[in-house]
Amino acid sequence: MKKMLSVILVGILVFSMVGCGRNEEDSGRDGAAENENMASQEMAPENEADDSDQQESESGMTEQDSTDPGSSAADESETEPAEADGSNALVVYFSWSGNTENVANAIVEQTGADVFEIVPEEAYTSDYNTLLDIATEEKESGARPAIAGSIEDIARYDIIYVGYPNWWSDMPMILYTFFDSYDLSGKTIVPFCTSGGSGLSNTVNSIKELEPEADVLEGLHIGSSSSSDPENAVSDWLGSLGLAD
Ligand SMILES: Cc1cc2nc3c(=O)[nH]c(=O)nc-3n(C[C@H](O)[C@H](O)[C@H](O)COP(=O)(O)O)c2cc1C
Repeated sequence: MKKMLSVILVGILVFSMVGCGRNEEDSGRDGAAENENMASQEMAPENEADDSDQQESESGMTEQDSTDPGSSAADESETEPAEADGSNALVVYFSWSGNTENVANAIVEQTGADVFEIVPEEAYTSDYNTLLDIATEEKESGARPAIAGSIEDIARYDIIYVGYPNWWSDMPMILYTFFDSYDLSGKTIVPFCTSGGSGLSNTVNSIKELEPEADVLEGLHIGSSSSSDPENAVSDWLGSLGLAD
């Protein structure tokens, strides 16, 4: 009987020890699962960091770029065609009351061209009626009013936009001074003009005669009343000539 009891006791002991072992195993698995969650939580910020790296590189603001502007400038110059930044184009214009200047500014904005304003060495009067008389005299005498300053290294420009107001169905005589002063052979000349109603008159043909070795493109005319808002007309015209950015 004692033997039977001790066999039963040993059996119970062995059974309970196996049970404990299983519980420890289970708790071990739970622990592993917890560790897996923790690991994935720890990875989450790493993943975010990866994402943010990607965003940074997509926006071009990598550390390398920000500390090495030279290399990024070199990259840009390699990928951009020479004309895209307007570096080979120049806008030359004369304007007495600002209408032609507005158009010139729109061309500069849309092409990135450099700009040279034709300013008379001796300023014109600010009185309109007196100016009408002066312009008549200049035209009749074939005057060549002197231009203040000069264009540095015109050789670097392939495209010259030339703007002027219509004066007595012609260009102001100071434009003739400009064409006398610079040989534009081999260049592309792109005329633009503002007027009260006469349009370009015969000015484009005059430019062709003055610069026979240049390629003179179709001119743009904008009426003086539309010259304060020339952006659309300028972009349509540039587009039609294949000169838009
Ligand atoms: C001396 C002078 C002559 C002009 N002659 C004409 C002309 O023959 N035909 C015309 O339509 N407008 C004529 N105009 C008007 C100008 O062409 C027009 O106002 C132009 O937009 C002015 O440009 P600006 O503001 O750039 O000087 C004349 C203006 C002046 C001052």
